Amino acid sequence: MSIYSIHSGSLEKAAQKLRSGGVVAFPTETVYGLGADAFNALAVAQIFEIKNRPHFDPLIVHIADTADVERLAFPSKTAWKLIEKFWPGPLTLVLKKKPGIPDLVVSGLETIAIRMPAHPAALDLIRAAKTPLAAPSANPFGYLSPTTAQHVEEQLGERVEMILDGGPCTTGVESTIVDLSGDKPKLLRPGGIPLEEIEKIVGLVDQQHPTSKPNAPGQLPQHYAPHKPLQILSVEAMRQHSLLAQSGILFFKKNKNHLKAKKNIVLSETGDLKEAATQLFAALHHLDQSDVKIIFAEPVPEIGLGLAIMDRLRRASAMNH
Ligand code: TXA
Ligand code: MG
Repeated sequence: MSIYSIHSGSLEKAAQKLRSGGVVAFPTETVYGLGADAFNALAVAQIFEIKNRPHFDPLIVHIADTADVERLAFPSKTAWKLIEKFWPGPLTLVLKKKPGIPDLVVSGLETIAIRMPAHPAALDLIRAAKTPLAAPSANPFGYLSPTTAQHVEEQLGERVEMILDGGPCTTGVESTIVDLSGDKPKLLRPGGIPLEEIEKIVGLVDQQHPTSKPNAPGQLPQHYAPHKPLQILSVEAMRQHSLLAQSGILFFKKNKNHLKAKKNIVLSETGDLKEAATQLFAALHHLDQSDVKIIFAEPVPEIGLGLAIMDRLRRASAMNH
């Protein structure tokens, strides 16, 4: 069994593994991460191997102390404002990097993505390892992100020796990524901190046009995808669909009209976007592993966390089956 509950013994064992160049899966408030010592290129190379991740896709470096950002990058005034407001929390900043970080971590870019996670076990682990952790989500490249230790075990199984179990992730979608390396702040990925909250601090943030060349592969049109086909449809369109009886439906909120689907999951009875985000990946994992032929998802309003939810659903539906 590679799943360990969190206590001082398992944290120390995991930190030891990281210090000696190993890889450990650990909880964050967003999704589970697959971490390695960010300063150890060989250790980081294992992450790419385990995930089947292309080398052009740079990693986020996780720190446990805001001061550590200066070991890695040149934070601007705007960066400090966001750090003070949102760290620890689901916000990743892309900043001009300092020398010393292996090229593999940043894919040879002049910038580095950094965040301070809000999960206490993640912070304890980084502190015990005494090094920043480069960590992508702990899933095979392109597949649904893991929000429980069991998801990690199902997807990566024997490829990871140690999975720390910090319970289900409380945010449930990945961090918001904001690029501060240019003249104007740019949103690279909507996530756990709503864009509106960020704009309150820094003013208007540029949004990457969906058709422009992606510079965050999380921005690839096809990502976060289940094996089963997924379609975003209105409840009316689902009702008329020829595959309704074989479908699994992801409702945003409680629905009065009963649809005769094979499976129904309601993300939030009351239509609360935060709750829906927490449930999103677990619901998709569940439907993907069930015997439904196709997944139908009801669209959610694109405000607050709804922006991240719709982003993940669109990429999940971009698969050409
Ligand atoms: O919530 C999260 O951010 C989770 C947890 C584990 O912290 N991590 C995560 O990592 O989602 P990953 O690798 O699945 O997604 C990181 C994204 C990638 O799309 C990558 O391209 C982008 O961050 N990224 C990393 N460094 C970058 C850089 N220097 N410039 C632009 N994008 C970058
Ligand atoms: Mg990922």
